[in-house]
Amino acid sequence: MEGTIARWYAVSTAKDTTRFEAQLAQVRRLTGAGSAILEVAPGPGYLSIALAGTGDYTVTALDISETFVRIARGKAAEAGVEVDFRLGNASAMPFDDESFDFVICCAAFKNFSDPVGALQEMHRVLRPGGRALINDLRKDVSKEAVDRDVDEMRLRGLSKMFTRYVLRSVLPRRAYLKSEFAALIGHTRFRTFDIQETPLALDVELRK
Ligand SMILES: C[S@@+](CC[C@H](N)C(=O)[O-])C[C@H]1O[C@@H](n2cnc3c(N)ncnc32)[C@H](O)[C@@H]1O
Repeated sequence: MEGTIARWYAVSTAKDTTRFEAQLAQVRRLTGAGSAILEVAPGPGYLSIALAGTGDYTVTALDISETFVRIARGKAAEAGVEVDFRLGNASAMPFDDESFDFVICCAAFKNFSDPVGALQEMHRVLRPGGRALINDLRKDVSKEAVDRDVDEMRLRGLSKMFTRYVLRSVLPRRAYLKSEFAALIGHTRFRTFDIQETPLALDVELRK
């Protein structure tokens, strides 16, 4: 996503604070204060900024979109928090081995052109014992689950119609079933994982 569509996404997801609060709670459950966290594909950067704002974590984030990296850096400066927003590809990360305690990736994995490469990179940059959490739309999501989620986003008019259409009809085509995700993990060095299904998404927890 670049240009206008990235700017539209940044505005339309800004109000979805319920989602960021739930994600923050998941991170707190899975990693302790003092952790070095990497967010893969942060888009406008709201979750990374919220994580850094707790004062409990060192946060780095990596996105392939120049527009999003620019937007996210601006929002972090406005919020007065420090996040190292970097430009780069999830399947060729510009980080040393074993740099992070925790990796999080939300609403993005289905877009990766090299999903196994991205998982292998998450494994490489995690410290031994580190965990990754990937949250993304499930392929077999129901229209009712999408509608409930879109209602919670507090969007209006065309933005609401467009978001509902994309979530119902476009994104599920790229998304994974639980069994397909497990098969991808089977091609990586991760040996310990758990996949939970919510009405909307897959929550994939991986341990190095
Ligand atoms: C729908 S946005 C999700 C943004 C944010 N995580 C959220 O939950 O709102 C998908 C993001 O994935 C990023 N992305 C897609 N392919 C990528 C790749 N290969 N490496 C890094 N980021 C990628 C896009 O630039 C975009 O920021």
